Amino acid sequence: MNYVLHYSTISKNAGAPQLLRFLPAGKTKSQSSAARRFAGEFQGGDLLKKTILDLNRMAAEGEKITYLTCYDYLTAKYQERAGVDMILVGDSLGMVLLGHDTTFPVTMEDMLNACKAVRRGAPNTFLIGDMPYMSYQVSDEQAIENAGRFIKDAGCDAVKMEGCNPQISGRLKAIAEAGILVSGHIGLTPQFAGQLGGYKAQGRTADAALRLVNQAGELERAGAAMILVEGVPAVVGKAVTERAGIPILGIGAGSYTHGQLLIYADMVGYYDNFTPKFVKKYADVGAELLRGFTDYCREVKEGKFPDDGVHSYKIADEESKKLERLLNGL
Ligand code: KIV
Repeated sequence: MNYVLHYSTISKNAGAPQLLRFLPAGKTKSQSSAARRFAGEFQGGDLLKKTILDLNRMAAEGEKITYLTCYDYLTAKYQERAGVDMILVGDSLGMVLLGHDTTFPVTMEDMLNACKAVRRGAPNTFLIGDMPYMSYQVSDEQAIENAGRFIKDAGCDAVKMEGCNPQISGRLKAIAEAGILVSGHIGLTPQFAGQLGGYKAQGRTADAALRLVNQAGELERAGAAMILVEGVPAVVGKAVTERAGIPILGIGAGSYTHGQLLIYADMVGYYDNFTPKFVKKYADVGAELLRGFTDYCREVKEGKFPDDGVHSYKIADEESKKLERLLNGL
């Protein structure tokens, strides 16, 4: 059997390129998507399934990583088609999908169902499941068990957990030592909104900024595979990124981070309860939906939809005549 070699630098500290993996040449189309997820599909010289090695290489080579949230199958399909590198099934699902005011009510079941749907829509994208409030705070055992469910039951590649204090670093270490990739999350961490005094930008004094730089170091030493930095000045995003040996992703953290995350429903103009300052709108899906729904309602009321010549099933002429006779004979 012929094998295809792929090389990748694993991190900017790794020096010489390292062997990524061997793939049986041409073993592609007939593989199931599950098999492809593990083997990596070889197509046109590229492995389609993104792994942590790809993300490390991008960070090391200065190729920006694209990262969006997603909560459902259809949107995931479009995101993968668009070439998004990473998807986060965030606990923002609670607000965007379920209509809660905060992320606190989100359950493991909510998260796992969404992750499974997203994985079906985006089999080759690096997928991160967000550990919901109180799914990792209680004990190492609880944290490992719940993190494991994201990988084992929902097909995620990694999990994300918010915050940095001795307890959270310990939990992150325990999950990483169980063999699971973990993303840290520092800065504006919604699960700590009570302690932060609300949803406010973080790191806006020199001391607070330095604390965030130190927190990133602490999470990296605990075994984080990557860190998400949220809601901080660009200079803080830069300071964290320059000192990191792992990919740093930013949401509202300026342009220096290795990758950029946005909540997809914000950047396509779908979620309109509020829009954070750092969001750029790339589409107006909400306006399009509203136009479509309004036109539909009007046309149904006016008897314009459905048009039986276009939107209706046909019956053969003789069957139609026979039906008429039968109905008349009733
Ligand atoms: O839940 C989420 O989508 C998140 C982002 C806001 C960073 O954690």
